[in-house]
Amino acid sequence: MPNYYDYACPQAIPTIRKAIRNAIANERRMAASLIRLHFHDCFVQGCDGSVLLKDTPWFTGEQTALQNNNSIRGMEIIDAAKQAVRLFVRESSHVQIYLHLQLETLPRAHTVGQAQCVTFRNRIYNETNIDPGFAIHRRCGCPSDNAGNGNLAPLDPVTPYTFDNKYYKNLMQKKGLLHSDQVLFNGGETDGIVAGYSRDSSSFYADFAAAMVKMGDISPLTGSLGQIRKICSAIN
Ligand code: HEM
Repeated sequence: MPNYYDYACPQAIPTIRKAIRNAIANERRMAASLIRLHFHDCFVQGCDGSVLLKDTPWFTGEQTALQNNNSIRGMEIIDAAKQAVRLFVRESSHVQIYLHLQLETLPRAHTVGQAQCVTFRNRIYNETNIDPGFAIHRRCGCPSDNAGNGNLAPLDPVTPYTFDNKYYKNLMQKKGLLHSDQVLFNGGETDGIVAGYSRDSSSFYADFAAAMVKMGDISPLTGSLGQIRKICSAIN
């Protein structure tokens, strides 16, 4: 229910908005990190804040899942907003399964944000469908041995802080940073989508907005099927 907090807790949305604005003013990358956090939360059985759950001896949550461990950021912003308004997070009880939806066609937000060397090392040293100059440039900050695993590089080197369609133009020049980015433009059936978005940014914006709304509708459990957590990071 999109207007649930209008009556349940009218201060919720303004308080969250303020917390997010402050966080982005402190660090621009946080805008990207929060988009990713939303995606990673929603794709595991709904947008239920389950990504906030900490592991316990009898429960393995999402934070230590391969895709998130030492990588997902922004949880503290949600916690700060929650403390300010005592916002309760609805959650479902099973959180370990990643849904395999049609990720190839879901428009990504890799036009902003950064990736760690460990996620693109193999691509810049071993792959052939990469612009040679781009690969050499990226190798500077990402040594071939295990040193510098956490060194960062922008997902979109051309306009790293602007949400635009340059990411798709980069892919067409074989300048996708991640392997999973470049597969979107590698002679397969998604080439046309990439070419379309690179020509027409308004179609990317429209599709991205629609996909985010759709993703936000992946519902958490309601009523007695789920629970409203008193502490964001733990099941009641
Ligand atoms: C198959 C689909 C996807 C894969 C394999 C993937 C993979 C990745 C990887 C490996 C990183 C770098 C993480 C790190 O180095 O710590 C990343 C970052 C990011 N991803 Fe994705 N991603 C996918 C889809 C998406 C989607 C659908 C969105 C948004 C709706 C998204 C938004 C982001 C953002 C904004 C960042 C940068 C985060 C930051 O700077 O903190 N990704 N992604």
